[in-house]
Amino acid sequence: MYRPRRYLMCPPEHFRVTYSINPWMDLTKPVDVRLAMAQWSDLRDCYRSLGHSVDELTPHPDLPDLVFTANGGLQLEDRVLGARFAHPERYGEATVHEEWHREQGRTEFQRAQHTNEGEGDFAVTADWLLAGHGFRSSPLAPQEAQEYFGRPVIALDLVDPRFYHLDTALCVLDDGPDGEEGRTRGTVMYYPGAFSPGSRAVLRRLFPDALVAAESDALALGMNAVSDGHHVVLPQAAVGLLDPLRERGFEPVPIDLSELLKAGGSVKCCTGELR
Ligand code: ARG
Repeated sequence: MYRPRRYLMCPPEHFRVTYSINPWMDLTKPVDVRLAMAQWSDLRDCYRSLGHSVDELTPHPDLPDLVFTANGGLQLEDRVLGARFAHPERYGEATVHEEWHREQGRTEFQRAQHTNEGEGDFAVTADWLLAGHGFRSSPLAPQEAQEYFGRPVIALDLVDPRFYHLDTALCVLDDGPDGEEGRTRGTVMYYPGAFSPGSRAVLRRLFPDALVAAESDALALGMNAVSDGHHVVLPQAAVGLLDPLRERGFEPVPIDLSELLKAGGSVKCCTGELR
């Protein structure tokens, strides 16, 4: 079910690949900042045309990955769990996000004690939080989030370095009708190869009707999509997802973010959600 959303984005004005902290970041490949800006603007305008509002963070010259605002924290019901980044190159981003939330008047802000990269590794369904760990977030992060938000957290073990964040391996398409009794578990899509055998079994058990993606679509970062419950904005190269999404009643909205893929990010990485 469609709900208008509020997103947090940051223009890639200082986007570069000057360090490599995931297998996608190839220091020998040049980055075209103007193209990155144009593609990013298309994404922002796409959200607005779908009826969503977009807040913008001010870019920072020393923080090229700040464009990936999903990583700054997890905000839910007026509480924010601020990120604690795994790599020193990104430490400064946590402060930028914290200051922004405080300027917005959010006092319930807590900087995480354990390493977690915000919505990169946390996904929200109607009843639960799904929490990835293995490459970035600490295995202790799910417990910390459960305690802070008072929501059951399902911890999922990521095992393939190409899918280093949960949001490169799984996407919540529909979080179920809100506030109703017997809320659904929601609809998700995921790429099983990114998860440990035990976590794969958990996903099958919780989401027997999930859209299970092929490796080719996962490698196009197709799981790094953003759904408003009806429109699913996703990287345009993930063509194998279009029909399965339509069959489930969703409307895929393909978008080209090829420049941002050079840093290992796509649609969802560029989109923090304010709930
Ligand atoms: N270069 C960034 C990193 O490796 C990309 C972050 C992508 N963000 C995401 N939510 N998956 O940290």
